[in-house]
Amino acid sequence: MLWTLLLALVLLLVLQAQLCICLQELRSSKASPSSATPPQTPGAAVSRRLPGAIIIGVRKGGTRALLEMLNLHPDVEVAKAEIHYFNLDENFRKGLDWYRAQMPLTLPGQVTVEKTPGYFTAPLAPARMWLTNPAVKLLLIVRDPAHRLVSDYTQVLHNRIQQKKPYQPLDELLLHRGHVNPSYKALQRSLYHHHLARWLELFPREQIHVVDGEALIQDPFPELQKAEKFLELAPQITRENFYFNTTKGFYCLLTAGHDKCLDESKGRPHAPLSNKAFHTLCKYLRGPNQIFFNMIGQTFDWC
Ligand code: A3P
Repeated sequence: MLWTLLLALVLLLVLQAQLCICLQELRSSKASPSSATPPQTPGAAVSRRLPGAIIIGVRKGGTRALLEMLNLHPDVEVAKAEIHYFNLDENFRKGLDWYRAQMPLTLPGQVTVEKTPGYFTAPLAPARMWLTNPAVKLLLIVRDPAHRLVSDYTQVLHNRIQQKKPYQPLDELLLHRGHVNPSYKALQRSLYHHHLARWLELFPREQIHVVDGEALIQDPFPELQKAEKFLELAPQITRENFYFNTTKGFYCLLTAGHDKCLDESKGRPHAPLSNKAFHTLCKYLRGPNQIFFNMIGQTFDWC
């Protein structure tokens, strides 16, 4: 009996040591050639932890790029898939242990980050998130809402074509008798002020970091420096972690000799929209955009 117990204990210790080695390898493989890996605590407890930071949106704003770029940091571990815990009732009902189980393994001191762009526009997400962890840091990556709408439509269009479903041209969905159709879902998702108001009812403004999605495309490094600061992480991501890939037309990631570009669903050509409709859309968004700028205390050069 005693021998069996001892054997089980030894097995457990071996297993834990192996897990630690795996995590330490993962951590050091993420550091840039020039960045130092923070000291490791031998035998530190690895476990799945609730996120310290969540990328809440916006859909098509560059959420995947931001997540992958943050993941370059040795003290960040990310949930690869979108979890949809706070926005979908069927997932929320599965409970907090289910949510935690979706998270990556981390060491103490590492920050877990998940991204689900659907959170930003989900009416119940802010309250559910706040009740789960009122101290969670929120990242919101925004982009010109007119371009975001076209990107949103393009994604839906691709899905419909793949599923051999019928589809309507964007002009038809967006405009009704020459005016913007306010019930078009992709338009509603572009009314940032409307959704942000719900988050600001619960979370202080300082707890929400707004990332400029267009700036992230042009030059990711400065945006990542700001995000590191917001997340109270030691500056570890460097310029050398990014290179412009002329074939892709976007920055790709470079770490420990490996390079990684986002998949072809990111940065694909947009579906057509007439100049007239685009102009009408821009005019329509001018007011909502201004309210959003006032809310965040920052302006962007949007159409
Ligand atoms: P488009 O496909 O409209 O160009 P999300 O990940 O939230 O769905 O956002 C997708 C958008 O991320 C893409 O929109 C693309 O413009 C943007 N993006 C930002 N940085 C990128 C990068 N380095 N590689 C590819 N796409 C990037």
